Amino acid sequence: MSSVVILKHPLIEHKMAKIRDKNTGTKEFRESVNEVSGLITYEITRDFQTIPKAIETPITHMEASVLKKQVVIVPILRAGLGMVEGIHNIIPTAKIGHIGLYRDESSLQPNVYYAKFPDIITDSVVLVLDPMLATGGSASKAIEIIKQAGAKDIRYVGIVGAPEGVSRLQEDHPDVKIYLAALDSHLNEHGYIVPGLGDCGDRLFGTK
Ligand code: PRP
Ligand code: URA
Repeated sequence: MSSVVILKHPLIEHKMAKIRDKNTGTKEFRESVNEVSGLITYEITRDFQTIPKAIETPITHMEASVLKKQVVIVPILRAGLGMVEGIHNIIPTAKIGHIGLYRDESSLQPNVYYAKFPDIITDSVVLVLDPMLATGGSASKAIEIIKQAGAKDIRYVGIVGAPEGVSRLQEDHPDVKIYLAALDSHLNEHGYIVPGLGDCGDRLFGTK
């Protein structure tokens, strides 16, 4: 079974209070989602492998360390887009793929409408981004498609998860490690995370 890492840090919790608050406007919401995404990147990358690289400092030669594998970031549209900048600021060499899907509001089933990945996805570490892990249907489908594209080393990165979504992802993709800023209580009758933060896509893009 895949492991779940919940990132406990005072700065993350402080920013989460802003993100969850219904009175936070679009601009601040978007900034805070990006900031939390940047902060959790340190933890996600903690066990990344490095290889030695000979370099010259202005003073002498030395053996430095660089990342062994390339990184591909794959946001799930739309809400995953809100995390890209924060993570890309920390890993600027990462390539970016996209997967478009939305959750049908009555059936809660994911509908895929777009997928485009860089060729290097096969040998890269792939970070799948979606702030909300609710039923887990969207994340599970996205990872299925990313695996079909050849990816082998995949991590799911979210902001808020529900126990239902975590269990679904662990069942469907036991090889994929899950990183979240918070694990909430449950889903309500409309499939929204409680206490959650509402509809993340709408709050990021001001569509409601
Ligand atoms: C939201 C969210 C996830 C999905 C989570 O997207 O960003 O992709 O719901 O729900 P699930 O775990 O039950 O599948 P939504 O379908 O609202 O699309 P949007 O990002 O375009 O707003
Ligand atoms: N999608 C969201 O944006 N929020 C939720 O709480 C659940 C799914």
